[in-house]
Amino acid sequence: MRSDPAGVGNPLRTDVMKFHIKTYGCQMNERDSNAAAALLERHGHAPADAEREADVVIVNTCSVRGKAEDKARGKLGLLIAGKTGRRGRLVGAMGCMAQRLGPAILEEVPGLDFAVGTHRLAALPFVLERAAAGRGPASDTAEDRPGRDKRRRHFRPGISAFVNILLGCNRACSYCVVPQVRGREWSRTVSNVVEEVRALAAAGVREVTLLGQSVMSYGRANAVCPDGCPSARGYTEPLPRLLEAVNAVAGIERIRFASGHPSGCAPELARAMAELPAVCEHLHLPLQSGCDRILAGMRRGYSAEDYRQAIRRLRAAVPGIAVTTDIIVGYPTETAEEFEQTRRFMDEIGFDNAFIFKYSPRPGTPAAEEADDAPAAEKRRRNQTLLDDQNRRNLAIHRALVGRQLEALVEGVSPRNERRWTGRTRTNKVVVFEPVPGLAPGSLVNVEIRQAWAQTLFGVVAGGAAKPESRHGSVA
Ligand code: SAH
Ligand code: SF4
Ligand code: F3S
Repeated sequence: MRSDPAGVGNPLRTDVMKFHIKTYGCQMNERDSNAAAALLERHGHAPADAEREADVVIVNTCSVRGKAEDKARGKLGLLIAGKTGRRGRLVGAMGCMAQRLGPAILEEVPGLDFAVGTHRLAALPFVLERAAAGRGPASDTAEDRPGRDKRRRHFRPGISAFVNILLGCNRACSYCVVPQVRGREWSRTVSNVVEEVRALAAAGVREVTLLGQSVMSYGRANAVCPDGCPSARGYTEPLPRLLEAVNAVAGIERIRFASGHPSGCAPELARAMAELPAVCEHLHLPLQSGCDRILAGMRRGYSAEDYRQAIRRLRAAVPGIAVTTDIIVGYPTETAEEFEQTRRFMDEIGFDNAFIFKYSPRPGTPAAEEADDAPAAEKRRRNQTLLDDQNRRNLAIHRALVGRQLEALVEGVSPRNERRWTGRTRTNKVVVFEPVPGLAPGSLVNVEIRQAWAQTLFGVVAGGAAKPESRHGSVA
């Protein structure tokens, strides 16, 4: 039975619509697009093979930087302009920009047929059907009720899936729009998460990434959904307990979780990472800056020394753990010398990979009240300097792996070269190899590394040693 959370009445048009979702932003948005596709399919609509064949195109938007919003606006503009040649096509927006702007998005993006915010994903089919019935542009972003959206269904999961464990964010980093658009923290219960992971494993998923903006806060904030959602009743435990429970799900070979925070890298978590066989030796631990004055201005809640200690603890427990990070350059008042501190600190830690962002003032954040004083050219220079440093570091780290055998989870044929296959190591590095008989997506193989580029490893399958039953017995 269909409920009608948007309160928009029965749709007039009930025929099957072919939909296509274009996703911008982070893994959480990817997860939401996947959930939206599952939801639309349950309401009788069908995925289009390609965007051009779609009756309805939905852009899942990101607000984290001005440029991310520009991209979404640009894409929406093109789609709306293209509607003249496509009678009856609908264009909609979902995600963080839709949440940030609220109903005003329908005025800011003329020609937009509908919008749903991050809190109201469950209303998507109704809002869409209302627009399809010709009842005018529709939006639903107002209520903060994550519980209405159980977000448990996946749309054709592959071998790897994202699972939300902690919605929202209670931190208040000075530059960040995410708490505005994703709301307060809310942890799903262990049993609720495990139920979803079991269903994924039964559908063939071998790797799950447990998602939360500050994922190590899992279980600390309100365990019960503020909306009284029945699926949220039960107990919520700290992250190490959840990792143990997910590790016990048959068929799940690999577990990752993102993003981390230095304050959460406690001995208990390091121990869980070391002892649970499915938990991968990889952590995404955003640093943002290596300078204490800037970190304090950003309200990140740690110093460079705290970060260093967190890494020491993890490396002592999990030798060879790969650490990746995020950095912001050109934060208000960051001097060239403070930028150099970040540079040196990155070298000291020896990150396996880094995403570098130019600071972008976001409306409604405390940092946006300060002057955005780094000239564009200087931000570009700092950005490029860190990218070049990281490239060199990547290459050195990867070259040291030549000759070693690494376990790869096979993803399938390489999108760049159909004669090759790709997979990922437990440390989250992309590895490309020649196929061998019997290879299938989802199998585990040992690959001997023969060549290293900054972003890719190349190798050969060693001894055809696929071992899908390595940790949990054979997979039903
Ligand atoms: N919750 C995650 C980050 C989510 S946003 C965490 O705190 O670890 C992903 C990254 O975007 C951040 O880590 C930060 O590096 C970058 N970012 C966020 N706001 C930004 C802004 N206003 N300007 C530039 N980069 C930003
Ligand atoms: Fe934003 Fe900070 Fe929360 Fe990450 S931890 S989402 S940067 S407020
Ligand atoms: Fe993610 Fe962008 Fe929203 S980073 S949480 S999609 S603002």
